[in-house]
Amino acid sequence: MYFKNILETIGNTPMVKLNKVAATIPCTVLGKIETFNPGHSIKDRMALKMVEDAEAAGNLKPGGTIIECTSGNTGMGLAIAGCVKGYKCIFTTTDKQSKEKMDILKAVGAEVIVCPTNVTAEDPRSYYSVAERLSKEIPNSYWFNQYDNPSNAIAHYETTGPEIWEQTEGKITHLVVGVGTGGTISGTAKYLKEQNPNVKIWGVDTYGSVFKKYHETGEFDEKEIYPYITEGIGEDILPKNVDFSVIDHFEKVSDKDGAVVARRLAKEEGILLGYSCGSAMAGVLQMKDKFKEDDLVVVIFHDHGSRYVGKIYNDDWMRERGFMDDELKVLDLINMKDSKEFITVNHNDNVRTVLNLMRDKDISQLPVMENEKMVGSIAEATILSFILDNPMVNAEKAVKEIMQDAFPEVPMDTSFSALGRYITKKIPAVVSKDKSGAMHIITKYDIIQAV
Ligand SMILES: Cc1ncc(COP(=O)(O)O)c(C=O)c1O
Repeated sequence: MYFKNILETIGNTPMVKLNKVAATIPCTVLGKIETFNPGHSIKDRMALKMVEDAEAAGNLKPGGTIIECTSGNTGMGLAIAGCVKGYKCIFTTTDKQSKEKMDILKAVGAEVIVCPTNVTAEDPRSYYSVAERLSKEIPNSYWFNQYDNPSNAIAHYETTGPEIWEQTEGKITHLVVGVGTGGTISGTAKYLKEQNPNVKIWGVDTYGSVFKKYHETGEFDEKEIYPYITEGIGEDILPKNVDFSVIDHFEKVSDKDGAVVARRLAKEEGILLGYSCGSAMAGVLQMKDKFKEDDLVVVIFHDHGSRYVGKIYNDDWMRERGFMDDELKVLDLINMKDSKEFITVNHNDNVRTVLNLMRDKDISQLPVMENEKMVGSIAEATILSFILDNPMVNAEKAVKEIMQDAFPEVPMDTSFSALGRYITKKIPAVVSKDKSGAMHIITKYDIIQAV
């Protein structure tokens, strides 16, 4: 048995029970794992539907060019369809999207144009405006405009909704979905509410997006709009694909909580998912008091974690944004260093050699070695006071005669605050041995850099 092409593998994704991450929720929580689509996101579904509908309407003709503004995933779905069906693809995206997403689009033959994030949708530089302009300039091209294109929500009405209904045997009580263009939530919700009007539909929004306030007050409040880091959800426009009438509640999730919960899903459930999946699950956790024991919650996980390895799955990226609550350890400080070279001097080296080395390598302290063993340490300040105290002594003196005690050796898992016990006015550094046996030095300078 085989599929005639990769497009036939889109959809019919598995549903998986969440165990540890959902442990505090009183009812069953199932994740609809859309990473199983060939483009590793749910957007393959709507991309194919938009292409098929555009072909049927005569908007996309043989040899034509697909144009779309995309945070990456719709582009991937369109590019796959373009490869199979023979269309060229040009995508506009924003400069906040992960590099991985852009590289992946190029890997499947698309041209990617990066536009600024922090401009209004109407600005001619925005990714919406650039896509629209290109579609007018390039002959035989078609701009899909996923925000307002009805095929987007219809794809989910025809596939995602029925799959969830069947997989839960009609027992679903709550659907939780991150909202961007609105296609996923609106199409899926319409189908589910037609089967059972009591199914609750909860949209997950970001801080910096207009959805929640608009849903609750009817006001499009520009003051709600500000830059945020989460990718794929939240908007500064009201896309036609968001059908507010089928959404019962919007829950805002912070950039930090989305990232932290995505990392939990990876580590605790073994499911490597994208940023907005963490937000969707964080939304479920924020709403936990609203669920009853017999409820059955389905949360849609839009895309794969491989798109975010340089972001939410990178400890340094998380720390730089204050998203890590854990304390830095010596190991982290070492990983942050530009150079991991362990530079030492021999106890018989003279003061001149040591000074030259310090100048060349731009360092202020060094371990002193004798037969591979650390026997002392030498710091710039010690050399300086030696020279000032002994102006007549030449710089040929061996360093062993003026060196100080060896730097304290600490385990790799020593915490940042514990380092304060070792590093003092007199002791400018500690050393630590990694699992391979290699030595590393952590200096006052490294600590300041890490802070
Ligand atoms: C990662 C990710 N999450 C969530 C969404 C939101 O889905 P929708 O546009 O159907 O509302 C998108 C849409 O592009 C996405 O790429």
